[in-house]
Amino acid sequence: MGHVFLRIQRAKSPVSRYSTRMSPSLPPYVAPETMDVLFSTAQIAERVKAIGQQISEDYKGHSIVLIGVLKGAAIFLSDLARSIEVDNTFDFVAVSSYGRARVSSGAVKLIKDIDNPIEGKHVIIVEDILDTGLTLSYLRGLMLQHKPASLKIATCLDKPERRLVPIEADYVCFQIPNRFVIGYGMDYAERYRGVADIRIFPETPPGH
Ligand code: IMP
Repeated sequence: MGHVFLRIQRAKSPVSRYSTRMSPSLPPYVAPETMDVLFSTAQIAERVKAIGQQISEDYKGHSIVLIGVLKGAAIFLSDLARSIEVDNTFDFVAVSSYGRARVSSGAVKLIKDIDNPIEGKHVIIVEDILDTGLTLSYLRGLMLQHKPASLKIATCLDKPERRLVPIEADYVCFQIPNRFVIGYGMDYAERYRGVADIRIFPETPPGH
């Protein structure tokens, strides 16, 4: 029998990407070893290094602030920061979203703001996946209100097919088709963030 996914009520209350996203009704555990690998640890390391080098060239002689979007971007950010050779600090934001079925501009809400001011600074928002674009377009608008000297976006994965609002990242490790993936910080129901490579979840979760 195939995996049974419990349908999650997404439209009524905010779904935190920061704390428990889909509890209390956890879907059945699927062992990550049974999932197909989309990108190996070596492939990820190679691309993150390349993006780090590109950022180091683009910002030569400047200091930058990396702003990671919790929780999914934490692992990408920690690897990226270590591959960047210019002076950098990092901060984190967390957002809640109402799920991807909602297209309204109020679909995303900030639940943890940056700790330090970014006015006049060169900022890069670091995200795990650019999917519909709702999260990053909301965050970009919010960060621009702080008047940074410049603002760019780095994402580990980009799913261009899923875009609902026009937004592109400046630095992308991999473009992928419309498949649900886990690992390298990315979760399904908070699981699998610690899986070292990026794997395809066997069925697309409901609402995706
Ligand atoms: P967006 O606002 O639709 O662009 O949402 C992006 C967020 O959705 C990502 O930061 C992830 O938290 C989540 N997401 C989108 N696709 C996937 C996926 O394939 N696996 C895990 N999380 C995903």
